[in-house]
Amino acid sequence: MTEAKEAILLVGGKGTRLRPLTVHTPKPMVPAAGVPFLTHQLARARAAGVEHIVLATSYLAEVFEPHFGDGSSLGLHIEYVTEREPLGTGGAIRNVASRLASGPDEPVLIFNGDILTGLDIRALVTSHATSGADVSLHLTRVEDPRAFGLVPTDDTGRVTAFLEKPQTPEEIVTDQINAGAYIFRRSVIDTIPADRPVSVERETFPGLLASGAHLQGMVDSTYWLDLGTPQAFVRGSADLVLGRAPSPAVPGRCGDRLVLPTASVAADAKLSGGTVIGEGALIGAGARIDGSAVLAGAVVEPGAVITDSLVGAGARIGSRTVLAGAVVGDGAQVGADNELRDGVRIWCGATLPDASVRFSSDE
Ligand code: GDD
Ligand code: MG
Repeated sequence: MTEAKEAILLVGGKGTRLRPLTVHTPKPMVPAAGVPFLTHQLARARAAGVEHIVLATSYLAEVFEPHFGDGSSLGLHIEYVTEREPLGTGGAIRNVASRLASGPDEPVLIFNGDILTGLDIRALVTSHATSGADVSLHLTRVEDPRAFGLVPTDDTGRVTAFLEKPQTPEEIVTDQINAGAYIFRRSVIDTIPADRPVSVERETFPGLLASGAHLQGMVDSTYWLDLGTPQAFVRGSADLVLGRAPSPAVPGRCGDRLVLPTASVAADAKLSGGTVIGEGALIGAGARIDGSAVLAGAVVEPGAVITDSLVGAGARIGSRTVLAGAVVGDGAQVGADNELRDGVRIWCGATLPDASVRFSSDE
């Protein structure tokens, strides 16, 4: 059977769009369904036969190794390589090449560190071997492709162009986008220039195509989400809890809710829609929480109503406060009787007095 035994995970991005979740925590370490998001990707790679993973780190690089160590608790051998200056996606891949043990023609998996997907990794490896491509890419279809890399293919699936973040309507030639999982023939990685920033999307892929290399796309319609924004992150966490997004690393049974062992939830509180309550969190009487993530040590006081929102570690949400599509940073204190909606972001450690923000007029 064809297998890829090695993978590179790109986890060095700043996660700017996810702030304030990424002020103290790199994006891949923000908890989704009770564990750092990266755990799901590592566990899925392991389940597909990967044994050795190199994490390409940059922003807040120091937090990864203390958490995952040598990877043995996940059945993996994990190594860490930190860039002195961010090298971009292609530079990061090249920068870890010396850690790979694969031979020149062997397949190496590469993953963006913020993708939640049901991709059949083994099927991608098999398709790579069958087509004999230099690089194979997982592609998915989206309604609005502008925030992604557009990847048109011919009728055999061979990639004909790579257009990162298209700017003009004429460039939108397809709804197929780069889903952030690749297989590179090992020798192709060694051709990326070393020691300078390189974008795999803007430089490496177009350059390979121009030189006649064979890039093969595999389109599928499995679950796929880029967790780059707070709303997507909250959605992804809920879908993991609900079991819509498959992961062997969800710490409990999938269902309407996931309450981690040391959390305490009042008997009449209602948790639904894939809500996760982190370790040591306290949920007060009559609180209703739907499709949301309450991180470790947070406190939700009685009667609060929380929908599609994230409550950061150690934050406090006062009584009767309403959160809908809101993100509350770590350690923030939101007083009672507030109403926070529609993409509002409360910064880490901020304090909102009681009854200080409303969206609707007072009754
Ligand atoms: N080590 C390292 N160094 N990692 C980096 C760097 C860097 O300098 N820059 C970005 N990364 C990592 C990020 O942490 C992330 O896991 C991945 O590379 C992709 O970066 P994003 O910043 O999330 O890119 P994007 O979402 O705008 O676009 C990318 O993903 C789309 C799919 O979600 C591109 O690959 C698009 O083509 C693709 O469609
Ligand atoms: Mg992204």
